[in-house]
Amino acid sequence: MGLPATIVRPGLYKEKTDTFYRDVISGLRSVPKRLNSKYFYDAKGDKIFQEIMNCREYYPTRCEMEIFSKRAAELGDALIAGGDAFDLIELGAGDATKSSHLLKYLLEQKADFTYLPIDISGNVIEMLNKTLPDRLPGLKINGLNGEYFDMLKVAADISNRRKVVLFLGSNIGNMTLEDAQAFCKKLREHLSEGDMVLMGFDLKKNPRTVLAAYNDSEGITKRFNLNLLERINRELNADFHLSKFDHYPVYDPETGACKSYLISLEDQEVTINNRERIHFRKDEYIYMEISQKFTLLQTEQIADNAGFKAVDCFFDSKKWFLDAIWIAE
Ligand code: AVJ
Repeated sequence: MGLPATIVRPGLYKEKTDTFYRDVISGLRSVPKRLNSKYFYDAKGDKIFQEIMNCREYYPTRCEMEIFSKRAAELGDALIAGGDAFDLIELGAGDATKSSHLLKYLLEQKADFTYLPIDISGNVIEMLNKTLPDRLPGLKINGLNGEYFDMLKVAADISNRRKVVLFLGSNIGNMTLEDAQAFCKKLREHLSEGDMVLMGFDLKKNPRTVLAAYNDSEGITKRFNLNLLERINRELNADFHLSKFDHYPVYDPETGACKSYLISLEDQEVTINNRERIHFRKDEYIYMEISQKFTLLQTEQIADNAGFKAVDCFFDSKKWFLDAIWIAE
C-alpha cells in the first residue's frame, strides 16, 4: 500500500473573493433579498455548525450517526457489491465522523478503495488529509478542495475505477426539490452505469421537531446565520450591525420546506466595499437557507427521474432519517 497521495488545491484567493463578492451583491440587490447558504461555512461557520450538530434540538446528525455506527457492515457490504476496486467519493465531507465508521469497516474487509473527500472548505480538506490516515491506518486518501462537480471531473481523471458517491447529512436538503432533482440528474451525468450513490435525506416528521432543530434555545442557529453577515463585514468590508437583524425560521409541513430568514429590525443602510449601498426597510427579510424535508416516495422519484435505481434503504430507529443506496442505470 503506497503513501497517501495529497492533492490540495488552494485555489486563487482573489477569484474566490470575487465570486463571493458578486454573489453577495447580486443576492442583496435581488427582490426579495437572498444570500447563498453555501457561504455559511468559513472557519467560524464550520465551528458554529459543529455546535449545531451537538445541540439538543438538532437531530439529523445523531440519526444518521446511529445508522452509520450500527449498520456500517450492511452499508459497506452493499457498497463493496461485487468486490471490484472503487473510488469512494464524499461530497461535503466535513470532519468525516459519520463516514469513518464506514471507512473502518471497508478497511477491515480489505476492500480495495481510495477515499476522495471533496469539500469547498480548504481547511476541511487539509485536516482530513492530515488526520484521517492516523485515525484509519492503511487508508488511501486523496482530498479534493473545490466545487462538487469540478472535483468529480478531477476524480474521473484520476482513475476510471467504479465510483461510489457519498452525499450525507441531508446536504441535498439545502436545495429546493426542483434543484435537488436537477442536481441528481447532473450527478448521474458525471457517473457511469453501475456506479453507486449513498445519499442522506432528512424525512418529514412532526413539524415541531423540525422547527426546533432550526430554532434551538441557545441561539446557535441564529449565530450561524448572523455569521454570514459578519463574514461579509470581514471579507468584503461591509458594515452590517448584527444586532439589527433577527433570525426567523419557518417550517411548512405541506411542502416539507424549512426556511430561515434574517429580518431587518429597522430601516437601515449597509455599505459594502465603500461603494455598494444596500437599503433595508424595517421588517424586510433576507432569505438565507432552505432545509428541505422529504417523504420516502419523493426520494424514490428523485432517484428514478435522475436515472438511478433505489436499491436499499437504511433508517434510524425513529425513522426520522434515511440513507438511501442508488445504482446508476
Ligand atoms: C448541513 C445543510 C444539512 O440544513 O440541516 C443546520 C445546515 N442549517 N442548521 C441543514 C443547517 C441550520 C444543515 N445541512
